Amino acid sequence: MEPVSSSIIDTAPPLPPDTQPLEHQIAGHFHGRSESKYGLLEQKSTGFVLKPFISAPRGPREHQFYVDVFSIHAPVEIQNLRPFLPTFFGLYEFAGMQYLTLENILKDFQRPCIADVKIGRITYDSEASTEKKQKLKNNFPAAVDLGFQLCGWKTYRSTQKKYIYHHKQCARSIKKHEISSALANFFGAPESDHHPVVRDVIIRLRTLERVMSDLRGFTFLATSLLIVYDGAQHQSCTQSMPKVDVRLVDFAHVSTVNDENGNPINQPDDNFIFGLRSYIDHLETIADDKFIYLPLERLNHNDPSNASSNCYTTFM
Ligand SMILES: Nc1ncnc2c1ncn2[C@@H]1O[C@H](COP(=O)(O)OP(=O)(O)OP(=O)(O)O)[C@@H](O)[C@H]1O
Ligand SMILES: [Mg+2]
Repeated sequence: MEPVSSSIIDTAPPLPPDTQPLEHQIAGHFHGRSESKYGLLEQKSTGFVLKPFISAPRGPREHQFYVDVFSIHAPVEIQNLRPFLPTFFGLYEFAGMQYLTLENILKDFQRPCIADVKIGRITYDSEASTEKKQKLKNNFPAAVDLGFQLCGWKTYRSTQKKYIYHHKQCARSIKKHEISSALANFFGAPESDHHPVVRDVIIRLRTLERVMSDLRGFTFLATSLLIVYDGAQHQSCTQSMPKVDVRLVDFAHVSTVNDENGNPINQPDDNFIFGLRSYIDHLETIADDKFIYLPLERLNHNDPSNASSNCYTTFM
């Protein structure tokens, strides 16, 4: 069956039985709100995430990537990616629409805090139109130097018992010199001690860096790192280590690169590795005791009269 095309429709598509829009989603296509109105869902009884295939070639390409990584025939370098991906449980179909069934990576977190970090100086593929390339560059011009961009983040402030969410427009308003503070803000600064979580995330990212350096012949364009920790235990006065996770999502623009003879090139994805290393370097900066947090006042969305912002604070 052909995936549904991404033409603009006015109403949200019918929800499959036993599903709801994905809780704690911070970026990407939101059910009922994105242009196509399709977005990520979760199955209430199983907790699985359902990601719609919106259009070819993106949907089938992402599906194929999951199939390849979880195939019993996958070479070891590809198998090594598995701990960094949500587990793939096959396809689900409803009302002419296909969905990827994925593990919900937040399922074991009490108060999941999550950041979506799109990796790469370049995030468009060669098929993109000139306008599309320009649009993507303009979204966050500093990505060319930094090698990554923040697409949104959501932090639980345990002392105030509230979540604060920053969406992509807000994330794009960050200046290059503020980026480290924005990262620290996600990890709980300035109220909480961000250091232990950051150090734990760095350890996991170093493993991912090795896995990606050993992987040859792939390009990962517009793939995101999801960084997760549990805000429930995130209190500066305790010694207990918050739970942490690091995963990759969004493989709609992953492809293999072949040489002139049609063989996969024997090279790692430098665009991705540059961005990953740069993100790790920024985390090393904020993990240093000499790091000074710059207050990001304009990112405070506690003012309910600020209707222009979709960023929010929720109490729970
Ligand atoms: N397996 C998962 N578990 C929990 N949350 C997820 C998972 N996959 C995605 N998310 C949430 O959904 C957001 C968007 O995911 P993703 O990038 O895969 O979708 P998208 O950008 O809408 O897709 P595409 O760019 O392929 O159209 C992520 O930022 C994250 O908040
Ligand atoms: Mg995405």
